[in-house]
Amino acid sequence: MPRTAFAPCTTVLVVHMWRSSLTDEAFHVRCLMLAVAFMTVCAQKSYVFIDIRNRQDQQNYPVTQDSVPDAYAKDIAGVLLSQQDILHGLSAVSARINQDVQSLSNSQGIVLVTVLHGAMIFSADLMRRLYFPFQTDSVAVSSYEGIQSTGSYQVKKEIGHSIFGKDVIVVEDIVDTGGTLDFLIRHIEAKNPASLRTVALLDKVDRRKQQFAHIKADYTCFVIPDVFVIGYGLDYIGHYRGLPFVAVKKD
Ligand code: IMP
Ligand code: MG
Repeated sequence: MPRTAFAPCTTVLVVHMWRSSLTDEAFHVRCLMLAVAFMTVCAQKSYVFIDIRNRQDQQNYPVTQDSVPDAYAKDIAGVLLSQQDILHGLSAVSARINQDVQSLSNSQGIVLVTVLHGAMIFSADLMRRLYFPFQTDSVAVSSYEGIQSTGSYQVKKEIGHSIFGKDVIVVEDIVDTGGTLDFLIRHIEAKNPASLRTVALLDKVDRRKQQFAHIKADYTCFVIPDVFVIGYGLDYIGHYRGLPFVAVKKD
């Protein structure tokens, strides 16, 4: 028998033995409780602080002169997330991660992997709100769009630590089509960490490619509309990363 057949066969056997030891009513009540518990666990799997796709004021924040070089101010259509908004997102997501990490019983350690360069500012702010011991590392991925619009991804800078048997937290700036995060998850899981969690500052969920529809960070600060954003680490050909807020770029 192939090894992959053991799990379903064992499950059927256990359920059968369990079923025959209970009355009909008790069996149905327990099934219901299990279903609720399963749904609760699934519902907790990913956390989103806030979805701002329908927020009315998203183009109306003033851009203060002292926080933006003149050369950049003219390229900004509006501030999507102010520094205050970002702080709220950071607090909520870091609190959630601090809470969830308590359930990890692995002694091999936690490694926080920042996806360069877009997530560097978010990750620096996030890690100062995490109250458990962890090592830091980074990875850089480049994507090349082929003429058939299927992305192909390459590791440009590899993770330095061995993450075998460790709990890994990947910090990404934005999930867009989903290709980069999908690639990273597969790349990291191939190194056999004890667990893998993903954190994203932003998610442009409406831009997700169908093949990556299931891709979602475990923790997301903001779901945003389909606009090109810059600032707080996010760039347009290397510029704007130093802006202290997330802005919509003018076309
Ligand atoms: P994906 O593979 O399409 O999900 O793209 C993810 C990567 O594209 C991110 O890590 C960003 O580097 C980049 N990206 C996607 N959308 C934006 C944006 O609005 N502004 C800046 N970079 C973006
Ligand atoms: Mg990036």
